Amino acid sequence: MYDFETLIDRRGTGAAKWSELGPYELEQGILPLSVADMEFRVPPCVEEACVAAARHGIYGYTMADEPYQEAVLDWMQGRHGLQAKGEDILIVRGVVPALGVAIRALTKPGEGVIIQPPVYPPFFSTVEQNGRRVEACPLRTGEQGYEMDFEALERAARKEDVSLMLLCSPHNPVGRVWTREELTRLDGICRGNDVVIVADEIHGDLVPKGRHICFATLSQEAARNCILCTAPSKTFNIPGLQTSNIFILNPEIRERVARQARLDGCCGLSWFGRAATIAAYREGEAWLEACLRVVASNYGILRTYLGRLPGVKLYPMEGTYLAWADFRALGMEEKELESFLRERAHMFTDEGYSFGQEGSGFERFNLALPEKALRRQLDMLLAAWEIHCEPTVKKD
Ligand SMILES: Cc1ncc(COP(=O)(O)O)c(C=O)c1O
Repeated sequence: MYDFETLIDRRGTGAAKWSELGPYELEQGILPLSVADMEFRVPPCVEEACVAAARHGIYGYTMADEPYQEAVLDWMQGRHGLQAKGEDILIVRGVVPALGVAIRALTKPGEGVIIQPPVYPPFFSTVEQNGRRVEACPLRTGEQGYEMDFEALERAARKEDVSLMLLCSPHNPVGRVWTREELTRLDGICRGNDVVIVADEIHGDLVPKGRHICFATLSQEAARNCILCTAPSKTFNIPGLQTSNIFILNPEIRERVARQARLDGCCGLSWFGRAATIAAYREGEAWLEACLRVVASNYGILRTYLGRLPGVKLYPMEGTYLAWADFRALGMEEKELESFLRERAHMFTDEGYSFGQEGSGFERFNLALPEKALRRQLDMLLAAWEIHCEPTVKKD
């Protein structure tokens, strides 16, 4: 019913993801599996809404009016059980700008901000570029995969100069969907030490319905201690429309963050962002469910292929369309791995080290692409491995 098979040519469109491809790759139809947007056409309802908005003829200054607010609130209530009001929403031109706003509003220069590497690179850069200190509490890898290091979190939260944490939920890149127990324990540590949580839930819809726990639904107290970052951008493949909805249920925190956002000039909604968001949240859920099925099937394909590379470990992808794999068993240095993947295998994944040193030797695969294109890329990976590497691996 929906088309997840046709590949759309994004050459010459300014697509950020495709900009890392050289002339050879572009000519050969190589696809990048990096930056987190999808190689899928947007849901038909979104396309139609944008065409209608284009045909309107005036693309004027736009407000979050009642139809917009209601669509956002109904989506958050229906998909995540969040009870909120229109006045709780701050509209910012993206989640990354919102992270910076929260940091400037709620911390002072030099103070520490907790993050959990390996993690989405702007978690580091937004803290550092604002003159704050990264207070890293790396995730641990246990028997079950990645988990939070609660002892390290407790130690960090106790520090005098730490009053903010950036939580990635679901976690990019490791693919964890945090459980209620994990989030509740984290909430206890943070509230116990007066640390406010910025819950970046931009990937929260990219999880089978009912499995993602929205931080602000844990309890009223948790809701009052968090800044909840949501967006239709990842969910419906519209990040170029730069629309995000930041829920702040605590009026005192909201006022401070809203004042900073006004100072920074990053509030506001675009004409097309409004149209696309209303359509997506009102009519796009069936498309999303179908999209998640395609991504889950692509994950199975990736697992089969990577199973043929000795020792490469693929982590469970509980949420997001980003899969995280450990390539260290291949015995290559991080730069060697990068050049093998790019130059030999024409595989443009995201290098694990860009998510912090804990990611060195890992790769992140974007699986939101047509199956045929994924298979073609993975065939190239296996062929490159067979030609260039296999003979040098010791067999005992
Ligand atoms: C965890 C996370 N937060 C934020 C963003 C980007 O947000 P925005 O485009 O709204 O600034 C991404 C994009 O990959 C992401 O993975």
